Amino acid sequence: MKNIVLIGFMGVGKGSIAREVIKHSKYIAIDTDDLIESMENRRVKKIFENEGESYFRKLEADIAQWLQSSVKNTLISTGGGFYKVKNLKKIGTIVLLDSPFDAIIKRIKEHPNAAKKLKKRPLLSDLKKAKELYEQRRPEYLALADVVIDVTDKSAQECAKELLKKVKKHG
Ligand code: S3P
Repeated sequence: MKNIVLIGFMGVGKGSIAREVIKHSKYIAIDTDDLIESMENRRVKKIFENEGESYFRKLEADIAQWLQSSVKNTLISTGGGFYKVKNLKKIGTIVLLDSPFDAIIKRIKEHPNAAKKLKKRPLLSDLKKAKELYEQRRPEYLALADVVIDVTDKSAQECAKELLKKVKKHG
């Protein structure tokens, strides 16, 4: 089994969908933000505040090298900006979770932990800027994706099933 690399904008549901995929498959799941937080022993938000974004991006690049050389049979959820690492395509099959910006924000706001979800993401603190970032990134996400799942108005379970079917077909 090749790795599956989940990419997509903040709040699109990478974590929830990953948890569903592992229920219905033999993949093990890991998350690049979790790896960075345990390596650094502090939250992503703190890393941004104390060291700045470029330091965080360097950690993502290091993780990407390790994923390529050492990780197999794994579903890898990534932070929304991880797709910029140079070796992304060498890590596994790239699956984009896609949804319009407004639907993503609605999804976050309707979540029982909405305040926490917004607070932990420094790049969502200004929604106007976040929308610009979304517009800039979306074509780049699409260009990298081997498989695209439109997650709008679908449950995590539905998305997971569609993902496994499409990844199998892609090979
Ligand atoms: C980021 C997304 C976050 C996290 C960091 C930067 C981004 O992950 O990696 O705050 O650049 O889009 P999620 O996509 O899981 O929110």
